[in-house]
Amino acid sequence: MPANYNNSACFYDRLSRVVYGKTLINAQVYLLQFIPPDANILIVGGGTGWILEEIAKIHASGLTITYVEIAPQMIALSKKRNLGNNQVNFVNDAIENVNLSPDFDVVITPFLFDNFVDETVGKVFNHIHIKLKKNGMWLNCDFQLTGKWWQWILLKSMFLFFRIICGIEASKLPAVKRQFDQAGYNLISQKTFFGDFVISEVFVKAQ
Ligand SMILES: C[S@@+](CC[C@H](N)C(=O)[O-])C[C@H]1O[C@@H](n2cnc3c(N)ncnc32)[C@H](O)[C@@H]1O
Repeated sequence: MPANYNNSACFYDRLSRVVYGKTLINAQVYLLQFIPPDANILIVGGGTGWILEEIAKIHASGLTITYVEIAPQMIALSKKRNLGNNQVNFVNDAIENVNLSPDFDVVITPFLFDNFVDETVGKVFNHIHIKLKKNGMWLNCDFQLTGKWWQWILLKSMFLFFRIICGIEASKLPAVKRQFDQAGYNLISQKTFFGDFVISEVFVKAQ
């Protein structure tokens, strides 16, 4: 069953700020500098849509954005955002159910993959992978464990909380880096945040 953050839409951003301050925002804003002008962009799991406003601050117009989000409440909040003069198509469905043309210049998956178990992450990854053009950019950020005890405790607490509230299937981080390696992506930039617990990565599709 796909994770559905509908139940958390009204408090998700506030909760994230209380626990992480601006970290989760900074990790995503870092990635946005890599978006070229006039790009055709796919955003999967954008949550309440604040990322659309941050994108509009950098590119006030010229972008075409397909915004796929499974939670109706998240989509409703996202539609109220200031989109600038960018064209945004909102799709309220699980990405794995959505048929899109394979012509995206940029894909953004902000804290999406931590919702999946290893058995399903490959299917979701491939579904997105085939929509990205050759030489296209995949901007991904997520949590990672680098051996610090508190990271493990925070991660377990988040999984437990979102399992109860939103029914997420994951209870550990799936092996996403392996998916990028197997699909032949080149990592061109990365930055870590919050004691290395959060990582933002820029991949380029080689084939
Ligand atoms: C952890 S939240 C991150 C939200 C946002 N990116 C942020 O950082 O504030 C994950 C988001 O992905 C959405 N989501 C989960 N599975 C999805 C799927 N299969 N297709 C589309 N969206 C999905 C959830 O509804 C939720 O809004």
